[in-house]
Amino acid sequence: MRKPFVAGNWKMNTDNHSSVNLAQSIASGSSEIAEKSVSMAVFPPFVYLPSVIKALNVSNIAAGAQDFYFEQNGAFTGEISVSMLKDIGCTFVLCGHSERRHVIGETDELINKKVAAAISGGLLPVLCVGELLDERKASQTNEVVTRQVKNGLAGLSAEKISAVTIAYEPVWAIGTGLTATPQQAQEAHELVRKLLAKMYDARLAEEIRILYGGSAKPDNAAELMAQQDVDGLLVGGASLNADDFLAIIRAAV
Ligand code: PGA
Repeated sequence: MRKPFVAGNWKMNTDNHSSVNLAQSIASGSSEIAEKSVSMAVFPPFVYLPSVIKALNVSNIAAGAQDFYFEQNGAFTGEISVSMLKDIGCTFVLCGHSERRHVIGETDELINKKVAAAISGGLLPVLCVGELLDERKASQTNEVVTRQVKNGLAGLSAEKISAVTIAYEPVWAIGTGLTATPQQAQEAHELVRKLLAKMYDARLAEEIRILYGGSAKPDNAAELMAQQDVDGLLVGGASLNADDFLAIIRAAV
């Protein structure tokens, strides 16, 4: 049985004060939600990670980074390593979020190196995949998602893969207010699970959590979560409001 997982990606939002306030509100509002019923995480901007981790305190909410570099250390100006993130108490990292793929220009090859580095360094990667609007219109969704999953996990053994969460995030639904229908989400998630079964084995594919992301909100969370292969939600905009994020978590339990 896969435990639901709800994560908030704060993107390039909040400030010193509001990031701590948001973390505290989420931590106190989730105190009655049993850890065994749902995994929870927030992904603040790098610079606020230490204070957010402190504010999350003894709550059941983990912290993660939105990005990092795959090298261990050295002359990589401006970059942050897996060991630095571990050092300050991070648990998760996003890999290949669509904004990094399509705004910053990250390739499948780079994303694969990041997934591998995260696992080797003891962080849990959330590999994000998803098609652009034009790709969906051209009926290329399956092809794109298959390519991104295969390339993102290339060279990784079954043992390593058990640390991975996949997030299916159709790019046309991210930050647009458009949400994939529960059926569209289920179709893509089922595709990913079948692909994982083919790449590894059926038992492992049954264990890996596949999150949906793309305008997830309190009013659509329950019907998305009701889909057989939707194991959680990666929430952007709505995770910046503690009440909305907590409502989404409750809908996922
Ligand atoms: P959104 O973002 O919920 O604002 O659409 C989701 C994401 O990018 O992870």
